[in-house]
Amino acid sequence: MIIAVDGPLASGKGTIARALAARFGLPYLDTGSLYRATGVAVLEQGIDPCDEAACAAAARALDITAIDEARIRTAEAGAMASRIAVLTGVRTALYELQRNFALQPGGAILDGRDIGTVICPDADVKLYIMADTETRARRRWEELTARGEAISYAEMLEQTRERDRRDAERPDAPMRAADDATLLDTSSLSIDAAVAQAVAVVEKRQKA
Ligand code: C5P
Repeated sequence: MIIAVDGPLASGKGTIARALAARFGLPYLDTGSLYRATGVAVLEQGIDPCDEAACAAAARALDITAIDEARIRTAEAGAMASRIAVLTGVRTALYELQRNFALQPGGAILDGRDIGTVICPDADVKLYIMADTETRARRRWEELTARGEAISYAEMLEQTRERDRRDAERPDAPMRAADDATLLDTSSLSIDAAVAQAVAVVEKRQKA
């Protein structure tokens, strides 16, 4: 079974995808981490984020076994990830890795922005997780400040809007719900309630 979980920043898609992976015993890939790690490589190597060939080369050179989790979770890494994610060369460089992960025997669960539309249009279950902008900005702000990052809520709200705009408006693989995705709004749901709803969608599909 292949499960695709998409949605904007801090919608809860990562939490839901991890819970589904544990529940159904599926390997899980957070595809945002690939774009974030590429963004970090671009920052650290002083690559011009407008230089598509150089950014694509950085994506191809990624060692996914050596991704520095703490480094890729910063606001700076997230912002750079969304800048280089507009580049077709970068998306092409990361496509095969994601596709191969999805096609492993027994299935997999992937979360991102274009899993249900581009990476796994053939997924058995597609979920699109959303929440209102202020709720998402507050969640991410609380997460980052708890980790000691100096960022104000107003800045986080602005970054959230900018990231949503860039992810949704890029011509290649824009963030959007697949036509056959089930929408789940987590704005006023607890984590447990959101996970329960997602589990119900998967179980219904399994029975069908
Ligand atoms: O999900 P996360 O916030 O970690 O992703 C960081 C950025 O990577 C996103 O804002 C988006 O620009 C990009 N991304 C993407 N396609 C994916 C996953 C992430 O374009 N499948």
